[in-house]
Amino acid sequence: MRLDGKSAIVTGSARGLGASIARDLAREGARVMLCDILEEQGQDVARSIGDAAIFRRLDVTKSGEWADSVAEAESAFGSVDVLVNNAALIEQVPFDEVTEELFRAIFEVNALGTFLGMKAVAPAMRRAGGGSIVNISSTAGIHSSGGLAYGGSKFAITGLTKTAAHMLGPEKIRINSVHPGWMRTPQTEVVPLDWVASLLPLRTIMDTAEVAKLVSFLASDDSSMITGSEYLIDAGALLMGARDIVDRMADHM
Ligand SMILES: NC(=O)c1ccc[n+]([C@@H]2O[C@H](COP(=O)([O-])OP(=O)(O)OC[C@H]3O[C@@H](n4cnc5c(N)ncnc54)[C@H](O)[C@@H]3O)[C@@H](O)[C@H]2O)c1
Repeated sequence: MRLDGKSAIVTGSARGLGASIARDLAREGARVMLCDILEEQGQDVARSIGDAAIFRRLDVTKSGEWADSVAEAESAFGSVDVLVNNAALIEQVPFDEVTEELFRAIFEVNALGTFLGMKAVAPAMRRAGGGSIVNISSTAGIHSSGGLAYGGSKFAITGLTKTAAHMLGPEKIRINSVHPGWMRTPQTEVVPLDWVASLLPLRTIMDTAEVAKLVSFLASDDSSMITGSEYLIDAGALLMGARDIVDRMADHM
């Protein structure tokens, strides 16, 4: 298994994509610390994974909680080799409804949380002789497909990823971002996903397990020469932009 002997921390893993990532890392042989603010759900997911998994409450916006979580993972597993910054808040409201308060809340979890995670694990990864950090962004971090604060925070993750990858590369700490399109998770409960699927080039909504496999690859030594890269996985969603205009143009000619 490609992650035998590795230890990982996954944020926002009490449900949705984070839970799938934790499962896949464990399936590939890693020991995993699941972290979230949803304690009961997080404990349940960890229990369902089995002995390879433990749960710890972590609010990613709190640097003190990050320090304690990394210390606990290092003492439980012996090292921290992988971090997946997955926790996020979403917002999709019109421009005039994006208040300063909402903007700060979204950036605190999505961007500050990612920064604090990288800062917290870097010393442990140095002690382990290197590591892999995977930051979960979105198609909204490549293209203007999300809310203002959400999209801005997901673009920020791309910048944090590339800049930190440059800085930590000499210490064998690799950092990449993953940009999923629509998946069926609690975050997309209000989205008409069947209709979205009918428009996508691959005519399907991705399962979170598909994205998790990409994350496990980036976490593993199979991707040892990859750092500072953006991985788009979206069933072809971003192919739609100009194509959609061309397809509709016929009606106006
Ligand atoms: N669902 C999609 O279609 C989609 C598309 C593109 C990108 N994404 C990204 O995938 C990731 C996972 O999203 P999801 O759809 O599984 O969403 P989700 O809402 O189901 O899961 C997010 C998790 O983050 C946790 N979280 C929120 N604030 C936190 C905090 N302060 N500290 C710790 N944990 C916190 C939540 O409790 C939740 O368990 C996110 O980064 C999201 O932006 C999702």
